Amino acid sequence: MPDRPARLVVLVSGSGTNLQALLDATADPAYGAEVVAVGADRDDIEGLARAERVGVPTFVERVRDHDDRAGWDRTLADRVADHEPDLVVLAGFMKLVGEDFLARFGGRTVNTHPALSPAFPGMHGPRDALEYGVKVTGCTLFVVDAGVDTGAIVAQETVGVADDDTVETLHERIKVVERALLVDSVGRMAREGWTVDGRRVRLGG
Ligand code: GAR
Repeated sequence: MPDRPARLVVLVSGSGTNLQALLDATADPAYGAEVVAVGADRDDIEGLARAERVGVPTFVERVRDHDDRAGWDRTLADRVADHEPDLVVLAGFMKLVGEDFLARFGGRTVNTHPALSPAFPGMHGPRDALEYGVKVTGCTLFVVDAGVDTGAIVAQETVGVADDDTVETLHERIKVVERALLVDSVGRMAREGWTVDGRRVRLGG
């Protein structure tokens, strides 16, 4: 990583509480990273408003404004590239990035998922864990690859499932742990670098 604060571009689709945790962490220069832009696949979301409130540039690239998914993916990659990121963070970004995006940002794009990979990939990690009846679930930060939540794992943390949990209560408890894991791991990646050897990710030189 460079000898200056790492440049983070964060992509969001919703409320952006994970983004907020990163924005709060990057206020401290010792954290070693700054959020240089926030992108989204839709307008009018709290995630974008959070960035706007602290003067971070934002952009929106909607799939429906493109002829096909590949065109959207290429343009999204261009928009991200405009901000010259060292690391791209998908924080509740509910779209799969494609071939062009991965050709440019593969190996330096991470995503956070509210389940313990490889269990319960996809859009409904907390619901699927609850329906399966697991007693322990959690969250996973991984390096994005072409699959659905299949990338090499950077960090994981566990969360117990309570008997009276609903999807909402379980997801909210996961998100508390998830935000801390994201802030801790992204900070370490920014300050210490990382290596990916097959499926094994190591933080530090
Ligand atoms: C987070 O729990 C994130 O892991 C999840 O959406 C939530 C976004 O919350 N993402 C996925 O399920 C992607 N598979 P936030 O908008 O408040 O950060």
